[in-house]
Amino acid sequence: MKAFCNSTSIIPVTLCFIFFSIYYFEDVLAAPPTTRQHFLCRPEQRDALLAFKNEFHIGRLSRACSNGNRKTESWRNNSDCCSWEGITCNAKSGDVVELDLSGIVLHGQFHSNSSLQNLPFLTTLDLSSNDLAGQIPDFIGNLSNLINLRLSGNNFSGRIPSSIGNLSQLTHLSLSINNLVGEIPYSIGKLSHLTYLDLWENNLVGEIPSSFGNLNQLASLDVSSNKLSGNFPIVLLNLTGLSVLYMYKNQFSGALPPNITSLLNLRSFVASRNAFTGTIPSPLFTIPSLAGIHLSDNQLNGTLEFWNISSSSNLQRLSIGKNNFKGPIPRSISKFVNLQTLELSHFDTQGRPVDFSIFSPLKSLDSLDLPYLNTTTTIDLNDILSYSKSLSFLDLSGNHVSTTNKSSVSNPPSQEIYALSLSGCGITEFPAELLRTQHEMWFLDISNNKIQGQVPGWLWTLPYLNYVNLSNNTFIGFQRAKKKQGLSSVLKPSMVHLLGANNNFTGKIPSFICELRSLETRFI
Ligand SMILES: *[C@@H]1O[C@H](CO)[C@@H](O)[C@H](O)[C@H]1NC(C)=O
Ligand SMILES: *[C@@H]1O[C@H](CO)[C@@H](O)[C@H](O)[C@H]1NC(C)=O
Ligand SMILES: *[C@@H]1O[C@H](CO)[C@@H](O)[C@H](O)[C@H]1NC(C)=O
Ligand SMILES: *[C@@H]1O[C@H](CO)[C@@H](O)[C@H](O)[C@H]1NC(C)=O
Ligand SMILES: *[C@@H]1O[C@H](CO)[C@@H](O)[C@H](O)[C@H]1NC(C)=O
Ligand SMILES: *[C@@H]1O[C@H](CO)[C@@H](O)[C@H](O)[C@H]1NC(C)=O
Ligand SMILES: *[C@@H]1O[C@H](CO)[C@@H](O)[C@H](O)[C@H]1NC(C)=O
Ligand SMILES: *[C@@H]1O[C@H](CO)[C@@H](O)[C@H](O)[C@H]1NC(C)=O
Ligand SMILES: *[C@@H]1O[C@H](CO)[C@@H](O)[C@H](O)[C@H]1NC(C)=O
Ligand SMILES: *[C@@H]1O[C@H](CO)[C@@H](O)[C@H](O)[C@H]1NC(C)=O
Ligand SMILES: *[C@@H]1O[C@H](CO)[C@@H](O)[C@H](O)[C@H]1NC(C)=O
Ligand SMILES: *[C@@H]1O[C@H](CO)[C@@H](O)[C@H](O)[C@H]1NC(C)=O
Repeated sequence: MKAFCNSTSIIPVTLCFIFFSIYYFEDVLAAPPTTRQHFLCRPEQRDALLAFKNEFHIGRLSRACSNGNRKTESWRNNSDCCSWEGITCNAKSGDVVELDLSGIVLHGQFHSNSSLQNLPFLTTLDLSSNDLAGQIPDFIGNLSNLINLRLSGNNFSGRIPSSIGNLSQLTHLSLSINNLVGEIPYSIGKLSHLTYLDLWENNLVGEIPSSFGNLNQLASLDVSSNKLSGNFPIVLLNLTGLSVLYMYKNQFSGALPPNITSLLNLRSFVASRNAFTGTIPSPLFTIPSLAGIHLSDNQLNGTLEFWNISSSSNLQRLSIGKNNFKGPIPRSISKFVNLQTLELSHFDTQGRPVDFSIFSPLKSLDSLDLPYLNTTTTIDLNDILSYSKSLSFLDLSGNHVSTTNKSSVSNPPSQEIYALSLSGCGITEFPAELLRTQHEMWFLDISNNKIQGQVPGWLWTLPYLNYVNLSNNTFIGFQRAKKKQGLSSVLKPSMVHLLGANNNFTGKIPSFICELRSLETRFI
């Protein structure tokens, strides 16, 4: 709070005002009515809460408003615990049903005698985003009324207790971002009401338990960033209500099963950075609800086919690069008219010509990654940029690219380009007409080309430019930015990486480059 209140700018002051208003309001609500001594809260549960609080150390929030925002400050023995922040009671029975102490830097670990066990009516336990360590206690499985259990973003270690499988009412279980090890307990497959299961960013090993085939209410499953292995878990194909499936960054292997199409409700399928091999079953692309398919960085192979895509395909994100696909890029890709991001890097067309106009119907593209297609076709940069007005991230590295289309001089691209990678594209001239007007650009890689002459001075006046790679060309020097181009705007902290090795620069590096603050340069 202090940090905000001492500040003089308008927004924090406004925030503080709102903040105090809420506090004032809550205090009014929380104040025990003097005429009534009877509290809704049950004394033994109040004592359990106070004891629970004392089992942990509550750290300082480094963020602003820390002093005022500590939920447990309202926890006083002489007030109704049902009015305490983070506590919700059943209005009739007075039982504590919700305990939400997320994000208050709760520090410490559970002991087997923890008074949490004396809150058996809890339906929601949210201790996420704290600093809890040690094991998730076995007794958690005795809180049999739990519907929501959120323990993500702590430092829990050890195994997931199999007693969690006793929480038969559970619909939401999140244990992500901890240090959990061992296998996923088979018993979790008993939680037949589970709709949301989130285990990402742990160190879990082994296969997805076969019991998961029973989680027929599951809508979202995230097991990314673990060390899970085995073939694609076929049991998941039983989960026809699944709409989000994240499996990226694990050690799964084998081919994707062709009947993955049984997941008709799937909206987002993310399985990049695994060890899936074999072909992508074409019907995957015909699941009508799919909005995102991310399979990059596996060892999938064969030719790519999209079967009978309807023109109403909902697919918005397709990333299947860094696999072992060979052959032509299917023309039917132009039917994915809602695509916003498309990533096909290292798709080996085996030296075939590519008709890049197949991408021209994709009017919603904002990010297009087509590096290293192994094609003989020269890509006309201005044509590509004209396909979608929102295209602002473009990577064509490793292909032949022509930047010198005559019409571009009179007709520069209308969009703002944020990032452009043209490394190893056989370019001989600095693409000045194109870039001079790109005031939003922050990433430019034109390394490994044959560009001669001076690096133009106006480049340093692009206000957001952060990364520039000029390496391995035949530049001979730096043109100074002209006064009217606003040399002072050169001294921007935004410019951080400037790579210029392997050129024909002679003499000293101009002082204005050395003056760029926080610049990391490499010229050797
Ligand atoms: C709260 O106060 C009551 C008496 O009003 C007392 O019996 C109880 O032990 C107190 N609880 C704690 C945790 O201090
Ligand atoms: C609970 O157990 C811990 C560790 O075993 C111990 O230090 C603590 O005193 C116990 N607390 C109570 C209230 O028994
Ligand atoms: C769960 O509750 C049962 C019955 O009250 C008890 O016997 C058991 O020890 C409890 N389990 C744990 C891990 O505390
Ligand atoms: C998390 O717990 C481990 C022990 O299990 C400990 O070594 C590590 O320092 C802890 N990390 C943090 C960020 O507290
Ligand atoms: C709770 O889970 C444990 C471990 O999975 C099991 O041994 C125990 O029988 C279960 N208790 C109940 C009441 O289901
Ligand atoms: C698939 O789900 C059905 C119920 O929806 C269930 O009866 C069956 O056992 C499940 N199959 C597997 C392999 O888990
Ligand atoms: C899906 O295909 C696999 C073989 O790839 C098979 O074992 C499994 O039974 C099929 N599942 C369904 C639900 O059709
Ligand atoms: C694709 O990969 C699978 C599994 O690694 C292999 O058996 C198959 O021969 C490969 N197919 C092609 C066309 O390379
Ligand atoms: C897609 O086309 C294939 C081959 O033409 C056909 O066998 C299949 O039934 C079609 N699928 C749908 C969903 O129309
Ligand atoms: C590119 O295609 C040729 C066939 O024209 C093939 O021999 C070569 O291995 C491919 N290169 C890469 C890097 O895939
Ligand atoms: C420099 O660029 C050329 C293409 O212009 C490429 O063949 C060569 O490998 C590159 N050298 C380095 C060190 O990257
Ligand atoms: C670059 O320098 C090398 C020697 O360092 C020289 O052979 C070459 O001709 C120069 N190229 C250009 C374009 O100046």
